[in-house]
Amino acid sequence: MEDYKVWAEGVLQKVREKMDWCSEKNRDKIPYTTDGLGNYDDRSDETKEWSIDNGINWWTNGFWGGIMWLLYQDTKKEKYADIARISEQKLAKCFEIYYGLHHDVGFMFLPTAVADYRLTGNKEAKRLAMHGANLLAGRFNPAGNFIRAWNQTGNDDTRGWAIIDCMFNISLLYWASEESGDPRFRHIAMRHADTTLNNFIRPDGSVRHIVEFDPETGDMVKSYGGQGYEEGSAWTRGQGWAVYGFANSYAHTGKQEYLDAAKRCAHYCIANLPESGIIPVDFRQPKEPAWEDSCGACVIAGGLLEIAKHVPELEKDMYVNAAVKILKAIAETRADWGKDCDAIVKNCTSAYHSPEHHFTMVYADYYFIEALYKLTGTGILLW
Ligand code: GLY
Repeated sequence: MEDYKVWAEGVLQKVREKMDWCSEKNRDKIPYTTDGLGNYDDRSDETKEWSIDNGINWWTNGFWGGIMWLLYQDTKKEKYADIARISEQKLAKCFEIYYGLHHDVGFMFLPTAVADYRLTGNKEAKRLAMHGANLLAGRFNPAGNFIRAWNQTGNDDTRGWAIIDCMFNISLLYWASEESGDPRFRHIAMRHADTTLNNFIRPDGSVRHIVEFDPETGDMVKSYGGQGYEEGSAWTRGQGWAVYGFANSYAHTGKQEYLDAAKRCAHYCIANLPESGIIPVDFRQPKEPAWEDSCGACVIAGGLLEIAKHVPELEKDMYVNAAVKILKAIAETRADWGKDCDAIVKNCTSAYHSPEHHFTMVYADYYFIEALYKLTGTGILLW
């Protein structure tokens, strides 16, 4: 067996031990981050339905369920399916509330309802996921061939905003077409992916976070630095959404341009990978303060491993080696394996300019665990 598989299996053993108690401790929650005492918070509060930041509509609310399904398919322990379904049932409430829902229904329902349906054939889960896909399709603007990202928040007119992260959400549309036999979801996904390819990916493989289109004419208006350092920079998690997202689009459609785009963004990441394997928040941020984003690191690693599945044998090593370097840096220097903290992955950052840096984020744990299963070849693809 390859060395990296042995290594990943050793780390997965620590994941299994941690998730065994952590899943039960947090079974009724939908966590995002840990508090000062290392306890998970809970974003499943329906009374906060209008707030995309705190309530049931919070975009990361699918990842706890996703971790449970990853552990379920590995261990076959029913408790993980039970806990995953607690998240799924709480998320169902989003459709009743409707207001506040956004393009991140993909991130929310692929690792929960779609995973449930794929693994167990649960028809109720399929109904929920199809509901999400229809909602996502309804956000498509044919004038510019893009999916609108966020709803109106603050003073920004976001009607024409698309963001790189959506490359993950469109997997819900691919799934809906594959499941229903109706190609219109896939057509929307591919139009959005084409728009992203043409307007977000720079010639050097770095990626824009937010691009604004005129919602009436579809013309590109401008781009924004978003969660990265500044306009023109390279937000690392956005690089990850592009690398992994285009690889997913290739897997669903076979369109060569998507794999080429994923590789171009991946090569930019590999060329800028620090010797330490520790990923900054932005590849073009100043040297100090040295803000890190372990979450972006895990997303990039997952994307590199996804590309490795689709390239000739001779090319695989470059992607796998870079992913292993990143994951080793996390497992050996940025992971908490103890009982004092519910999360595993430390030093995540939501946005370069946000006041807080270096905290835990549940989706960092998700992508870390998922990448380990990719290395051992025993995982399921939820995207
Ligand atoms: N999708 C938002 C983020 O990556 O923070």
